Amino acid sequence: MFNLILFGPPGSGKGTQSDRLVAKYGLIHLSTGHLLREEIAQKTPLGLEAKGYIDKGQLVPDAIVIGMVDSYFDKHKDSKGFLFDGFPRTVAQASALDKLMERKKTNIASVLALEVSEDELVKRLLNRGKTSGRSDDTNEGVIRQRFAVYDNETSPVADHYKKKGKFQAVRGEGTVDEIFNSICEAIEEKMD
Ligand code: AP5
Ligand code: MG
Repeated sequence: MFNLILFGPPGSGKGTQSDRLVAKYGLIHLSTGHLLREEIAQKTPLGLEAKGYIDKGQLVPDAIVIGMVDSYFDKHKDSKGFLFDGFPRTVAQASALDKLMERKKTNIASVLALEVSEDELVKRLLNRGKTSGRSDDTNEGVIRQRFAVYDNETSPVADHYKKKGKFQAVRGEGTVDEIFNSICEAIEEKMD
């Protein structure tokens, strides 16, 4: 298996680049945000609970997210590998992912981190909010709250992977093609 994590703040382009990366490398896309939005659309008990957190720009509790990741992984366990998008988002989630990788006798090849300025992120999210129907994109207060949560709870995840020598920063500004090429270069360094 070849597993990657695409890391970065809200609006940094994780979803956009994931679509291309899974096509190029034949990976399964595991976006916890996407899985949660599906649960919300289907009005499942998990979705209804998650909605309360997402609408406020807060993280959904670790236990819910980790359970969801474990079962999605098992559903696709015969795949070539996974691209994790928006997960792990806390140090507890990163530790749970370490254990999952160990249980499945595989590992994370690299954490690719998209770096984008906050002004550009706000611009992108407000713009997407006009058409996405995402409740967490239309209100600048909620967007700022998502950044605060990222700084406090998610950025420590970078150190978790830096200590393991798996962290690769990539410039996340420029055209989608330019960024995709930079990510592919970083991945190919790890594949050699
Ligand atoms: P999630 O769905 O993961 O959202 P996010 O991390 O806030 O990030 P986004 O999906 O908004 O942005 P992105 O980086 O994917 O960028 P995109 O490609 O879309 O999470 C949503 C919520 O769910 C969280 O707040 C939390 O409540 C909950 N949640 C999810 N995972 C969780 C977890 N593990 N634990 C706990 N809670 C969790 O691009 C953004 C926009 O910019 C698009 O319009 C795009 O077209 C545009 N764009 C992309 N690239 C470029 C470019 N190069 N130039 C110009 N525009 C660009
Ligand atoms: Mg996304």
